[in-house]
Amino acid sequence: MVSFKIDGKTVEAEGGMNVLAAALNAGIYIPHLCYHPDLPENESCRMCIVEVEGQEGVVPSCTLPVKEGMEIHTNSEQISRLRTLALELMLAGHPEDCSTCPKYGNCEMQTLIQYIGANSARMRTRTKGAKKEESNPLLIHDMNRCVLCGRCVRACSDLRGVGILKYQKKDLEVLVETLHGKLLKDEDCRFCTACAEVCPTGSIRDKLQLLETNLKKDELLVPCRTACPVHTEIPRYIRFVKEENYDAAAAVIREKAPFPKCLGYVCTHVCEEECRRQAVNEAISIRNIKRYAAERDTGLYWRGKGKQLPDTGKRVCVVGGGPAGMTAAYYLRKQGHTVVLKEALPTVGGMMSYGIPAYRMPRTVVAEEAAVIRDQGVIVETDTRVERPLDLLKEYDAVLMAIGAHSGVRLSMEGSGLPGVLLNIDFLRNASMNRENGIGKRVIVLGGGNVAFDCARTAKRLGADEIHLACLEARDVMTADDEEIEQAQEEGIFVHPAQTFERITGTDSVTGVDFMNVKSFSFNENKQAIIEKEEGSEHHIDCDTVIFAVGQRPQITEETGIILGSGNRIAVKEKSLAASVDGIFAAGDAVYGTKSVIMAIASGRDAAGEIDKYLGGDGDISEILAPVQSPDPCIGKAEGFCSRERKSSIVLSAEERQNNFDKVDYGICDKDICSEADRCLQCDLRLQIKPPRLWTEFSKQKEA
Ligand code: FES
Repeated sequence: MVSFKIDGKTVEAEGGMNVLAAALNAGIYIPHLCYHPDLPENESCRMCIVEVEGQEGVVPSCTLPVKEGMEIHTNSEQISRLRTLALELMLAGHPEDCSTCPKYGNCEMQTLIQYIGANSARMRTRTKGAKKEESNPLLIHDMNRCVLCGRCVRACSDLRGVGILKYQKKDLEVLVETLHGKLLKDEDCRFCTACAEVCPTGSIRDKLQLLETNLKKDELLVPCRTACPVHTEIPRYIRFVKEENYDAAAAVIREKAPFPKCLGYVCTHVCEEECRRQAVNEAISIRNIKRYAAERDTGLYWRGKGKQLPDTGKRVCVVGGGPAGMTAAYYLRKQGHTVVLKEALPTVGGMMSYGIPAYRMPRTVVAEEAAVIRDQGVIVETDTRVERPLDLLKEYDAVLMAIGAHSGVRLSMEGSGLPGVLLNIDFLRNASMNRENGIGKRVIVLGGGNVAFDCARTAKRLGADEIHLACLEARDVMTADDEEIEQAQEEGIFVHPAQTFERITGTDSVTGVDFMNVKSFSFNENKQAIIEKEEGSEHHIDCDTVIFAVGQRPQITEETGIILGSGNRIAVKEKSLAASVDGIFAAGDAVYGTKSVIMAIASGRDAAGEIDKYLGGDGDISEILAPVQSPDPCIGKAEGFCSRERKSSIVLSAEERQNNFDKVDYGICDKDICSEADRCLQCDLRLQIKPPRLWTEFSKQKEA
């Protein structure tokens, strides 16, 4: 340690440190602009000049090493004059009107002007004449605002090892540009956006500014993680996959969700919709990467290792063994409670076992991951239907209703009660259990979501000759995943978007459905459907089976003593998930209607936290399983990075898949996995960059 004085105050610092860093650490502000703690110094701005006793003139403190006994002065008439002059020279080439800059109120340069009190009016101002470049993904280059501090150049070269930003001389001006003057995309930019992070002005900035959103900085910058309902650390596990450390990757996923493999098959991957790589070309295939890791996981970091608190003596009953119920049961057990899970059907899994067909969600995978719940100590009772949940309170301290939504909705329309009319969930459950399913040879499915496609594709596999699927929504706003729609069409299913269902025809049994074309379809402010039909578009399709796939509701009545809300859903207090009866909680589809497996897992986690609190715990179900990693900020240059195409999974051909329930999607192949993981922009690396130290922070410290 070295001891020296700054403005009379004794400061201790590690040998080898510079005076500026030592001063900032000691709570003494010295103005600075080109200095950044994560970058090598370049001494270009001279804002940080100080005087050293016994030495002539001034020296930049950002490159002045600390020395035992030295005495530093950060303020004097000379320093003030030279700083003001240097700042005014910078300002002479910077646009005068700050208020039109998107970084207004969030600009380091602006705070420095306030601190030093510079006035550019004394200088002859000039514009650099650089074109504002907005054609790049994610970033705007507005080099007229550049003050040549060089932070972006150093961030690109020294911090990231990419090196595509350089100083270029143009006429009489020096500008920061890409190496060959091309767009970032064409220069193999990695789009880590470190340049925007360190830029002290609005010269290189994000297209989407934080102030334009309601998000926190990390939420905005890592949108995949924000979008994931359980906020899985996506860039972290993708990095482990790139390093071929699949155990660690799977452990990262398991920190937030107990069914990584199931999610690898059927997650609705909302994360991919928000992936920033989309702005460059296509989103990362996040779900496939997750599946690849989960399928190679040996359990090294989590099996028998995660959190398990001592027994609390409290008893919880979870009613329903779908993803919400199993998740809640798993975490409640980890919090030390005795947990009994009661499932009405012969196996757990809920919709993963009885709704989503086996060709999409292999049952062996569900069984394998569900076993982990038992291994954790949850007592599972299958074939156990709970008719009177309130009675459970005699035996248990809390009850979680995670009963899913297992009643199909029958639209009230002419012919809807005819023999041959089936409901989605009954049909899919019967098919899953190899029971009599009731379909004929010509089937019409009414509905346009994933469940409707599950019905249509299941009917195909059960031997129906002709299958039609019709829905109110136009093709581009159908709620089913595109891949579901495309695969169904490849299997010969006729898809009819934008149709009204006028009536189901037939007297003794179904003979067909009358339709009309929809001209427009929207919802009013009361969420009522407003449908405009196309005049004279009446048409009819023959069939012997109609399957309603227009929604599902929880199988429950108010006779249980629990208050229900709209759609027969269990009414809960929004935050606590507490139902109307003390000690009863609800989660998953039973609360919000059918959504997705990952939403159910998120709801199960919330319920576990809330019930734990109710039982006297702290409600903290978080756990760290994977090794804590300090990712290398130096990502380096990667040739052709921006043009690397998204790798898809291997899918069986329509001929191979349409007659059986065998797995359809084989995931991403060994050859492609590394390059797909390597397409990730690693947006989270930017959060490692230290924030700027502004004088306002130091004045607050003084006040405090
Ligand atoms: Fe030291 Fe710029 S010269 S901060």
